[in-house]
Amino acid sequence: MPLLPIIEAPDPRLRVISKPVESVDDDLRKLIADMFETMYAAPGIGLAAIQVGAPKRLLVIDLQEPEEEGGEGVRDPRVFINPEIVEASEELRTYQEGCLSVPDQYADIARADWIVARWIDEKGEAHEQRIDGLLATCLQHEMDHLEGILFIDHLSRLKRDMVLKKLEKAKRLKAA
Ligand code: NI
Repeated sequence: MPLLPIIEAPDPRLRVISKPVESVDDDLRKLIADMFETMYAAPGIGLAAIQVGAPKRLLVIDLQEPEEEGGEGVRDPRVFINPEIVEASEELRTYQEGCLSVPDQYADIARADWIVARWIDEKGEAHEQRIDGLLATCLQHEMDHLEGILFIDHLSRLKRDMVLKKLEKAKRLKAA
């Protein structure tokens, strides 16, 4: 399984609104497997299909922190296809977020403390579940990607521009 290149801001492809997945077939499962491999290698805890250039409403999450991993057995892969938020708490929870498409940049973002989400898994089975904690934060972050939204879009324009400038500078240094 190949590692997929991760698209980085400010690439306009990250602004595309992803389309619903029509069928959960072998091609999709192959993409899911490649996304997990890419996410684990990065390493990261969440990845939306659009971040690897596939504008599909699909995302993968594994909250198992890489440094805590003792091996494959402790992994906790979760697949969300066509996810929707049915209900969201008014209480907010702030978490320091990062994103594989905005490398090495972190910011405190406030999101709903809990959500009720509906989605389809990699077997094509439908789920509806109340989700809280880090998974709620992560799922909302990844679902933003499906709408072409990055976590830095929740910051003030000044802060967002600062992050984008830092990214640009890091890219120049890497290229030099
Ligand atoms: Ni992200």
